[in-house]
Amino acid sequence: MDKAQLLVASNRGPVSFSIGEDGSLDYRRGGGGLVSGLSSVAETTDTLWVCAALTEADRTAAARAPEGRLDLAGFDLGSMRVRMLDIPPDTFTDAYTRVANSTLWFVHHMLYDTPNKPRFDAAFRTQWEGFRSYNAAFAEALLTGSADNARVAVQDYHLALVPRMLRQRRPDLRIAHFSHTPWAPPEYFGMLPGEVGRELLEGMLGADHLGFLSRRWADAFLRCCETFLRVDVDWSRRTVEFGGRVVHVGVHALGADADSLRRRAAAADVEEWRTALRERVGDTRLIVRVDRTELSKNIVRGMEAYRELLREHPEWQGRVTHLAFAYPSRGDVPEYREYTEQVQRVAKEINQEFATADWSPLIMEVTDDFPRSLAAYRMADVLLINPIRDGMNLVAKEAPALSDDGCALVLSTEAGAADELGTDSILVNPYDVTQTAAALRKALEMPEDERRERCERLVESATALPPKRWFAEQLSALK
Ligand code: F6P
Repeated sequence: MDKAQLLVASNRGPVSFSIGEDGSLDYRRGGGGLVSGLSSVAETTDTLWVCAALTEADRTAAARAPEGRLDLAGFDLGSMRVRMLDIPPDTFTDAYTRVANSTLWFVHHMLYDTPNKPRFDAAFRTQWEGFRSYNAAFAEALLTGSADNARVAVQDYHLALVPRMLRQRRPDLRIAHFSHTPWAPPEYFGMLPGEVGRELLEGMLGADHLGFLSRRWADAFLRCCETFLRVDVDWSRRTVEFGGRVVHVGVHALGADADSLRRRAAAADVEEWRTALRERVGDTRLIVRVDRTELSKNIVRGMEAYRELLREHPEWQGRVTHLAFAYPSRGDVPEYREYTEQVQRVAKEINQEFATADWSPLIMEVTDDFPRSLAAYRMADVLLINPIRDGMNLVAKEAPALSDDGCALVLSTEAGAADELGTDSILVNPYDVTQTAAALRKALEMPEDERRERCERLVESATALPPKRWFAEQLSALK
């Protein structure tokens, strides 16, 4: 087994800190496939995770441990060190809020309302400078912490420039980059200023291996390389020759971590939520969705589809409840604040139209409560996942694996998860509200045996590549 040092870099790290009333620092382990994926590697390998300090408490922690020796008593990732970078606030805002979240995210998820946006002016060029500095701060921290021939696993669009920055100074490093988002097709990627698009592509091609969640996103990246860098792509091997090196592009379809989720979902706080939710919804059938308040998740059209179902099929009124749980997200971006308000407005309209003295048709909560989400996964009869575009959508894989009695899955064709789950879900065009309403009805009326059988097959596909194997696959591509 390759025991060379492992460096990981991502904007959001594996833990976040909070400061207690007595000034003590406490931390919370983050979710996500990467944290789980690393767990077995970090037990046996010298591992350093470099991330950004995202809150005041993170910055306090970072100041106490500049070399990445944060006190993480009880943390279950072996002896892994975590180094949080205290990026200057203006640089961080330019890089994370403006370039990463308001531009690159919008491009890859094709979210622009194009008559008005995007507009790449002088202000954007200044923000791009900030994005470069932020990437350079990560590269510097990785270089400071790295041994000869270390393996570096760089994550996501935030850090697209890092692989090339590392390669230029340390050709001995073995570098992987993984995209957790979709990748835009050339027709959309081409909206970016030419020099910016090229810098992003060339930045990523500094890596030895580029990973994507779906063949669709990997192909889009390769097509962008052909179009904007005029390089030759070997489509049979899925490689690009660039700067005298061969860069491999791979697809690693992250699956659910069913064992650890099931353990977590059996805990007392989840049971309490299950009882409380059941009391609230009575014996109605449940349509469940759990997302961040994220534009690409298409929450509003999902609720409109539910409204259409109740209007067109009044026999379902009083017999079904829609639980829509959303974690607050990216409140610094105006579009996200407006979207969250819109989501809440539409939820209110639906309740005003249909609620009766003893039935609330829609329960929408915008708060961060993981145990409540797990309880909802267990109880769901129907799971609604209808993103406009989504790298994978792990909820589509995790919720069926936790289902108490088998759930039916209504799934957007535009989620990466549709590659693996398409056959046993009811696929929808995310823009088609009427089709989504019909899919919800079909899911609610699906015979019980069929629903359970389909759910079993969904779980099999959803757990085919659990996080540890998903991450190991990427590391072995670096040999
Ligand atoms: O999955 C893509 C991603 O951008 C992750 O990198 C990120 O942690 C997650 O979405 C949530 O976004 P944010 O970190 O901006 O809250």
